[in-house]
Amino acid sequence: MTDRVSPEAARHLAVSSHEAHPDASLCVHGGRQDLRALGVHVAPLDLSTTYPISSLAAGTESLDRWVEGGEGQEPVYARLHQPTVARWEAAVAALEGAEEAVAFGSGMAAVTACLLASAGERANVVAVRPLYGGTDHLLGTGWFGFENRWATEETVSEVVDENTTLVVVETPANPTLDLVDLERLCRRVAPCPVLVDSTFATPILQKPLLLGARLSLHSATKYLGGHGDVMAGIVATDAEMAARLRQVRILTGALLSPFAAHQLLRSLSTLEVRVLRAQATASQLAERLGRHPLVTSLAYPDLSREPWLRRQMKGPGAMIAFELAGGFEAAAAVLRGVEMITPAVSLGSCDTLIQHPAGLTHRVVSETDRTAHGISPGLLRLSVGLEAVEDLWADLERAFHRAATEAVREAPTGSLQRRSDNAPSEVEPAL
Ligand SMILES: Cc1ncc(COP(=O)(O)O)c(C=O)c1O
Repeated sequence: MTDRVSPEAARHLAVSSHEAHPDASLCVHGGRQDLRALGVHVAPLDLSTTYPISSLAAGTESLDRWVEGGEGQEPVYARLHQPTVARWEAAVAALEGAEEAVAFGSGMAAVTACLLASAGERANVVAVRPLYGGTDHLLGTGWFGFENRWATEETVSEVVDENTTLVVVETPANPTLDLVDLERLCRRVAPCPVLVDSTFATPILQKPLLLGARLSLHSATKYLGGHGDVMAGIVATDAEMAARLRQVRILTGALLSPFAAHQLLRSLSTLEVRVLRAQATASQLAERLGRHPLVTSLAYPDLSREPWLRRQMKGPGAMIAFELAGGFEAAAAVLRGVEMITPAVSLGSCDTLIQHPAGLTHRVVSETDRTAHGISPGLLRLSVGLEAVEDLWADLERAFHRAATEAVREAPTGSLQRRSDNAPSEVEPAL
């Protein structure tokens, strides 16, 4: 049995199912409405790299269509079209309220494709900080030939001009959970397209296209995959932009494997349940962290404060950032002290992860820029998973207690000095 859901049918499934069903049903049935007709219960996994053409004329015509970013009648070759990947794309498009979605081999491949798809002569891209360290670094490389301009939510409309081809924004932002009013930002920069990295929110909590954005991007390595075992990226958008993104994907080969797409489709079934459960635990932890005497600052979206935020997000999510008294040394000690919680980068897994943005995910951002955007040496980022809240709290409290005890006993042991800096080498924080 082959998995031949046509792109046309996939798009129809995506759009019609969004209109008809709430997220819980879309998570379970999106991209899968044809399974009964195929006589199967689980989506088939199609591993073909090439496909028999029915005739030379049909193959040629299909190839031309795919290469233009359109839809051929026959798949021809897996770099042009992959049926199992197309199923996951249709499901995510439905959840995002998008016409289409285009999948990539990682979140960074998806970001790169958006930049390439928007590039133009004399173009500039305007980005609102903070952003994930990799995206920030990529924009600063100058590799794409366009000018990169930094802005804040307040300055963005002054920085955008007629040559701006894309505005890049992340909300909630990695790692500080800064929030951007998307409706207002999109209005201010119109008609310039806005790309929203919505990884922290997931389509369960936030749907940027319904607020005026043109592209909604996810590092699907995080919540969409949800189990820490698959790398992927996806962009939900309109049909015209999707065609450009597919062209980029065909030419750069930044593909998602069908194995990964199959895992992602399975993970999607539990996305809403995972996100809501992790969010409930995170809300309790944030409340307790906020009252802890060692916690000097806490970032966790407070929807009750802003009417626009209640329109934008269905809930605060499961990411928390906080600083401890004792700064860098205390943060490093907490990473050493946790037992159930894993000290590791990434987020959105079933298990809880904690990491140190200035030393890890945002190490590539200059210290000046980190400091300007609140990524301090003492900041820790917590990705709350599905464990029992009391276990997580006990683990954090124990680690805080050890950090406080060590701070009293020991001299400083580390810094954020880079190995490549010319200063005398200092000890890196031990994980
Ligand atoms: C918000 C955000 N966007 C993009 C990326 C890049 O995704 P990937 O690691 O899947 O390439 C990450 C990775 O951590 C991220 O946190």
